[in-house]
Amino acid sequence: MAHFMNNTQKVLELLSNSTNYLSGEKIASEVGISRTAVWKIVKNLQDLGYPIKSKMHSGYYYKDNNKLNEFIIKKNLPTDLKNIAFELHDSLNSTNIRAKEISASQVDSQPLIIISDQQTGGYGRYGRSFSSPKTTGIYMSILLKTQSKELNPGLLTTATALAVARTIEKNLGVATQIKWVNDVLVNQKKVVGILTEAVSDIESGSINQVIIGIGINYLSDISLFPPEIQERVGTLREYVEQSHLSRNYFIAQLLGEFFALYSDYQSGDFIDEYKEKSYLIGKKVTIIQGEQRVSGIVADIDKKGRLVLQDGTILYSGEVTKVRLV
Ligand code: BTN
Repeated sequence: MAHFMNNTQKVLELLSNSTNYLSGEKIASEVGISRTAVWKIVKNLQDLGYPIKSKMHSGYYYKDNNKLNEFIIKKNLPTDLKNIAFELHDSLNSTNIRAKEISASQVDSQPLIIISDQQTGGYGRYGRSFSSPKTTGIYMSILLKTQSKELNPGLLTTATALAVARTIEKNLGVATQIKWVNDVLVNQKKVVGILTEAVSDIESGSINQVIIGIGINYLSDISLFPPEIQERVGTLREYVEQSHLSRNYFIAQLLGEFFALYSDYQSGDFIDEYKEKSYLIGKKVTIIQGEQRVSGIVADIDKKGRLVLQDGTILYSGEVTKVRLV
């Protein structure tokens, strides 16, 4: 998508990238507008919730907080990802749905990252709803052109789960476990959900794009979630509050981990690290596949991201509706 930078965005970008106070005069000359225009724009940004401090004789200073800001995310990305395209929204029905809409038209701007402060129709696997209240969560979709015809969405989901787990451990200093295939747990509670969806090209019928949706209970207050899921769901809140890391910073770290793994995920080489964090290996489970049930002890997760039971049964994530510990 061609990104038209208006003056407000230019001012926001300058402030977001500055490490100290910027004078109104300096901003005015860089953007090519008057100091009064700068003042008005800053006032407007402050009203929108952007944390910009103003100080007499010094100018303006951006202090990153919980407000989502594309420029702060970009500033914290590894250099090779600096040109990645973003779309930030205050509210969407679902970032995965938005990604699907875009996938129909704008193939050139990919990879594209879509983030929303809240979702009114967030969903997970099998159409289950995903609670997505504003300000406290991270709701993000990564839209990608697929690298090869042999896409294994299950393996991509496992790689994504590992990227999120690594990001949490490195930045928030708390151990994670991964419940095959797509749940990241902290203290046995689900704090992250991942939903990978493939988009096929209508003419060839082959998969040519993929959407990876990631939902994180970052600062979420679980007591506000639907009562029926409160038992199973957790939040990263206490760890985030201890480490003072903004959503912008965390998103940047996560994208760094994700793209590092994505470059080689087809090899399955990351699976040993995934297995070390596995919540299921060695446990007895019942696997629900539509109407069918299979029970057994989990022996392994193989290099294709499949679950292997002790009796030799091998399961692809796509075939499985639910995994229950027994
Ligand atoms: C699951 O737990 O079954 C997966 C949940 C995936 C939720 C994320 S939030 C961002 C993206 N948009 C959605 O509507 N879903 C995914």
